[in-house]
Amino acid sequence: MTRTDPLDVPRPHAQLHFGVFFQGVNHWTVWSAPDSGSQIDPASFRKVAQTAERGLFDAFFLGEGLRLREVDGRIHDLDVAGRPDALTQLSALAAVTRRIGLVSTSNSTFNEPADLARRLSGLDLLSEGRAGWNVVTTDNAWTGANFRRGGYLDHADRYRRAEEFLTVARALWDGWEDGATADSAGARHWSVPGALHRVRHRGPQFDVDLAPTLPRSAQGHPVIFQAGDSGEGRDFAARNADVIFSAHGNDFDDALAFAEDIRTRLRAVGRPDDDLRILPGTEIIIGATEEEAQEKKRWIRFQQVTPATALGIAGLLWGIDLSDRDADGPLPEEDPVVAENDGSFGARRIADPRTVVAEWRAKAETHGWSLRETVIALGPQRGHVGTPSGLADKFAHFVRHGAVDGFNVTPFLVPDGLDDIVDLLVPELQERGIYRTEYTGTTLRENLGLRGPLTHRTARDRRQAG
Ligand SMILES: Cc1cc2nc3c(=O)[nH]c(=O)nc-3n(C[C@H](O)[C@H](O)[C@H](O)COP(=O)(O)O)c2cc1C
Repeated sequence: MTRTDPLDVPRPHAQLHFGVFFQGVNHWTVWSAPDSGSQIDPASFRKVAQTAERGLFDAFFLGEGLRLREVDGRIHDLDVAGRPDALTQLSALAAVTRRIGLVSTSNSTFNEPADLARRLSGLDLLSEGRAGWNVVTTDNAWTGANFRRGGYLDHADRYRRAEEFLTVARALWDGWEDGATADSAGARHWSVPGALHRVRHRGPQFDVDLAPTLPRSAQGHPVIFQAGDSGEGRDFAARNADVIFSAHGNDFDDALAFAEDIRTRLRAVGRPDDDLRILPGTEIIIGATEEEAQEKKRWIRFQQVTPATALGIAGLLWGIDLSDRDADGPLPEEDPVVAENDGSFGARRIADPRTVVAEWRAKAETHGWSLRETVIALGPQRGHVGTPSGLADKFAHFVRHGAVDGFNVTPFLVPDGLDDIVDLLVPELQERGIYRTEYTGTTLRENLGLRGPLTHRTARDRRQAG
């Protein structure tokens, strides 16, 4: 990529924000390399969080999985890597970090607002204003099978529940005014009269009648993240979120189209364009030269897409169990089975498997690829690959043209996978003026450059607009 004049772009002063997404359950983390460590040992979490903080990342981020992933009733063996409860894990990290945000993915489908809002407040107070909540609705019935509510809620109802959930959570977080309790031993009352507000909410999803149990944190309340890609999900984000954890960060045009769509939705609800940060998940592979980076990517892909993973991914496309086939042999001869599948039990519907399989066959034949090589070349794609300076130019282009506000990086190696990003890429970004050289604030909200809790700022913006 050629360097553009940094001032001759739509957002000349834009800053890139990094989060780290510690994945836990997935096949992208290489577990079989000699230098890979435990995905469960608290030391791994500490190392990743502290390296990210050394690299001035905004956030350490955990997903949520309440049940091991299954396809057709079979557990994906990589999921046995496990996934501890995010709030518990982040509370431990609050004690060994000072500035980095701590973001918990917690779903709105299986929790109750009076309980979850309180636990999130707890993390926010414990970390002195560094908590974030990634609101997810969860897209599978196999998780829901273990909860009275959830599995049978359809997509639109899950978002309705999420909306009401947030309304109640915010009311609870706003229930204590700033300075609601005594500030000196000489005060007449412990709680200032009239400064604690009872929340009474009676709605289709929740009944709450409660004086909130905790004061506001240094950042007001946890920063709200959102992850979900449908129209409903995006509208929900436009109304409610401070940050979107998106899946649109690998390709510039795709990322820009997503960002423009979000900005249109923001304007439709009366929020300014810069009121929300977009941080797509991505992988970053660094080499000293372009060739070295590509070679490293090839090695990593073969570690990630093991024979079992290749057969699993291909099995989803074909709609049949391929687990006893040879992944390093040719593509299955069968035609794909186009089954009725709403995705609720793990296998996402592929729009037209017959066309995709025909494409895979043609390309495999041209290049002489095995099934595994075909999955690597044509299956799910992700990430950015290059030299530190090439990647920095590329990210400068992304951020200055408004395609992203940063990335939520998924390291392919735990716990050392961030080291080269922090040591080699971050200095190049700083040199280009698109990355901070020190934390700008003490809270997550300040570091993300957000102006204040959404309820407060939309009310203020509307007042200013008259
Ligand atoms: C980038 C991204 C990350 C997600 N992470 C989680 C997660 O950790 N746990 C979870 O239960 N759901 C997760 N989800 C699922 C969403 O909450 C949502 O249920 C799903 O995407 C279906 O909603 P949609 O149709 O709006 O995309 C994630 C979704 C996206 C796009």
